[in-house]
Amino acid sequence: MFDYHPLSIPAPYNHSNIDSDELLYYVDGDFMSRKHVTRGMITLHPAGIPHGPHPGLAEKSIGAKETKELAVMVDTFRPLKLTETALEIENEGYVMSWAE
Ligand SMILES: [Fe+2]
Repeated sequence: MFDYHPLSIPAPYNHSNIDSDELLYYVDGDFMSRKHVTRGMITLHPAGIPHGPHPGLAEKSIGAKETKELAVMVDTFRPLKLTETALEIENEGYVMSWAE
């Protein structure tokens, strides 16, 4: 269930993690906070980089009661390093997806 207060906004707010990288593995379901993120994808938000819901999705989430999405989030103690394989499969448009 999402936050169920009548005035709540279920989508997460924009934020940046100061002390950790944030890695999310999208396992299953319909991911409400980001467009074009589908099952099996991984996102990485390095420490200090602002991120949050896709434009318009915070407003769209108002009134939503629950989600059927399943994701695994890892906040790291140390910065992650990308492998050459990870760089080869990077979605280069992701970083600008907030500008849509
Ligand atoms: Fe985050």
